[in-house]
Amino acid sequence: MNQNLKSLLPDRPSVLNIEPKYTSFNSKIDTNRAVELLLSGQYVLIEEYYSNGLEVLLELKRNLLFSFSEKSFQGQRDYRSAFREASHKLLLKVNNNKLIVKKSPEIGWLEVLYPDVSEFYISFPEIQGMNSAWQWYQKGIEVKTLGIMLHPFYGTYFPTRFDHLKLFDQWLKKYDGLKDKAIEIGVGSGILSFQLIQNGFTDIFATDTNKNAIIGVEKESKRLGYESNITLSNGDLFSDCDIKANLIVFNPPWLLAKHKLEEGLDKAIYYEADLFPRFFEQAAKHLEVNGKIVLIFSNLAQVIETESIHPIIEELKQNNRFRKELHLRRDVVASSKKTKRTDARENEKVELWVLSLKE
Ligand SMILES: C[S@@+](CC[C@H](N)C(=O)[O-])C[C@H]1O[C@@H](n2cnc3c(N)ncnc32)[C@H](O)[C@@H]1O
Repeated sequence: MNQNLKSLLPDRPSVLNIEPKYTSFNSKIDTNRAVELLLSGQYVLIEEYYSNGLEVLLELKRNLLFSFSEKSFQGQRDYRSAFREASHKLLLKVNNNKLIVKKSPEIGWLEVLYPDVSEFYISFPEIQGMNSAWQWYQKGIEVKTLGIMLHPFYGTYFPTRFDHLKLFDQWLKKYDGLKDKAIEIGVGSGILSFQLIQNGFTDIFATDTNKNAIIGVEKESKRLGYESNITLSNGDLFSDCDIKANLIVFNPPWLLAKHKLEEGLDKAIYYEADLFPRFFEQAAKHLEVNGKIVLIFSNLAQVIETESIHPIIEELKQNNRFRKELHLRRDVVASSKKTKRTDARENEKVELWVLSLKE
């Protein structure tokens, strides 16, 4: 494991350490009054039951949907931003790393992420996010292609659909090249690196810009006994990587950002325009002569907007660096068998691209 991991502290939701000026809310108070306060920018503290917070948020939603009835893309965006701003004024108090309201969920992240501060105020939506992440972490995600359970760390991207992993697995089982060294960019929950290890790669260098992903994969590697097979680095693309690899793997974000990206999960979904040109330029320097780049991608951007540019096709067209060896596609199966897909995502396909250096 890399040295820089020892000093790595996870990203966590910001909290208020000093008691703010707030109005208390309990079952006797009208939810409309609480909503009025939130909308006027004042803090409201849930003091009795956890479910009181859910009631206030429901009322806030109703109120805002009434004011933002516009169904256009912009209208929906304005609604979401108003909801975000007001809902983050709704607070819960944490004492001894536990929520103090009655009938609240046990959320282990409060202890894991805040070892230095045990008493604070935090917004209700942040707690909802932590609660859901804690449940995923505890329950784990069964990855059938690996035959293992993954326990994703807070704030880390993890797969909920597995078509791209099956595609990668299918390709990896047939791969007969050298398995000395591999690099994975954007390791996330570690899933692709673990697939590489299970298929005979013993020396993987993996990076991610998301600190929590690196911290999480370090823990998972230890738990799975893969610690000696993987070196982790928190940084952009190939930063701190001084090796050349037989295989470079990247499952990048699939959508071009039209907003300023935030650190963390946002960067797992959206990419800035220069991400792919930078990746390809650096990848060419880190690939052994007969090495291969494997990219997992999707036609999702084209499904949403037909005109959108496919960054891998663009690289192959614009530059004379790589040769396309293979392009596999696979239909995306709906996440639940019960949900019949009627939306545009019905045509969604995952893609696996294999590129090699041109001579
Ligand atoms: C779609 S997720 C894939 C995660 C994992 N490899 C998987 O297949 O489930 C993309 C990952 O790339 C990371 N990422 C995005 N931009 C990056 C960059 N410039 N350098 C390194 N990692 C990056 C994100 O933080 C995220 O973990």
